[in-house]
Amino acid sequence: MIILGIESSCDETAAAVVKDGRILLSNVIASQISTHTKYGGVVPEIASRKHIEAIVQVVRQALEEAHTDIEEIDAIGVTYGPGLVGPLLVGVSYAKAYAYGCGKRLIGVHHIEGHVSANYIDNKELEPPFMCLIVSGGHTHLVNVTDYGEYEILGRTMDDAAGEAYDKVARAIGLGYPGGPKIDAEAKKGDPEAIAFPRAHIDGDEYDFSFSGLKSAVLNYLNSCEMRGETVIREDVAASFQAAVVDVLVGNSMKAVDKYGAKKFAIAGGVASNTALRDAMGQACDKRGMSFYRPSPILCTDNGAMIASAAYYRALRNGYAGLALNAVPGLKLGETI
Ligand code: KG4
Ligand code: ZN
Repeated sequence: MIILGIESSCDETAAAVVKDGRILLSNVIASQISTHTKYGGVVPEIASRKHIEAIVQVVRQALEEAHTDIEEIDAIGVTYGPGLVGPLLVGVSYAKAYAYGCGKRLIGVHHIEGHVSANYIDNKELEPPFMCLIVSGGHTHLVNVTDYGEYEILGRTMDDAAGEAYDKVARAIGLGYPGGPKIDAEAKKGDPEAIAFPRAHIDGDEYDFSFSGLKSAVLNYLNSCEMRGETVIREDVAASFQAAVVDVLVGNSMKAVDKYGAKKFAIAGGVASNTALRDAMGQACDKRGMSFYRPSPILCTDNGAMIASAAYYRALRNGYAGLALNAVPGLKLGETI
């Protein structure tokens, strides 16, 4: 089964062609990062307009690079939530029109389910059940993937998402948008033990996360340096902040692994491309003799391939959508409409 996957929930217009949920035939991503950088973050209205400008060309290129004609496509999968409503509407409207015009079946995909499914493309042997930490710009979820498209949520963030914390701290230390990759690079030059930033633990909810206190601690540290006339060593702040994030992500994950006796662990989402997180989680899994899975960095951040893979497993369960499919900005994981 060959599926065209379309993703436009935030600032990437992406399309890809994937065979049987696992074999990547093409993966085209038009990033809007350079446009949003000057505003320090994604401007939703500008993002919507940029998606409209790019989507036809991105889909055309995805089909071309896959050497696939639209006739050979069995279904079109599209992200319908969660995300920014304007950007989502561009992808959903385009996919509906294309499916209707070409007589293809349509599948609505949950963006986070897409992130999880990126693992199926790069780890051909991975099958549920497994535990997965999803860390992106908008979400931080620790889940048991009990079957394809079935999740038991163990923990989530109480405030900022991990990627959001990266982006906010990067802005505060003058690294700009998007913060994740910039802090990742800067941290390599710094000392992760230079500053003891807090590791938040939520009483009674040991698998939940909180990153807003850490963000405030970084801001307080920067203010107190300024008041005392001390120079801020940016690479040390980046490395110490990142160490605190990674400690909590790995710590909570391993607590859940031990409690639930998980045998396989996967990471997903934009922050899963972080080198320190990949190393630390890999080591923690090795120590427990568990298999550790992660997508290649290009499939961690938003892309159409992960949407096509998730769509395939929905299609196997007859999870087709009608033309009434709409964008659902606040769509919850495990919720289908
Ligand atoms: O999954 P994604 O592309 O979009 C959402 O669904 O939100 O994730 C984007 C987030 C941004 O916050 C970005 O700063 C973060 O992922 N990110 C990283 C890295 N690359 C992207 N965070 C830490 N280290 C990275 N290397
Ligand atoms: Zn995403």
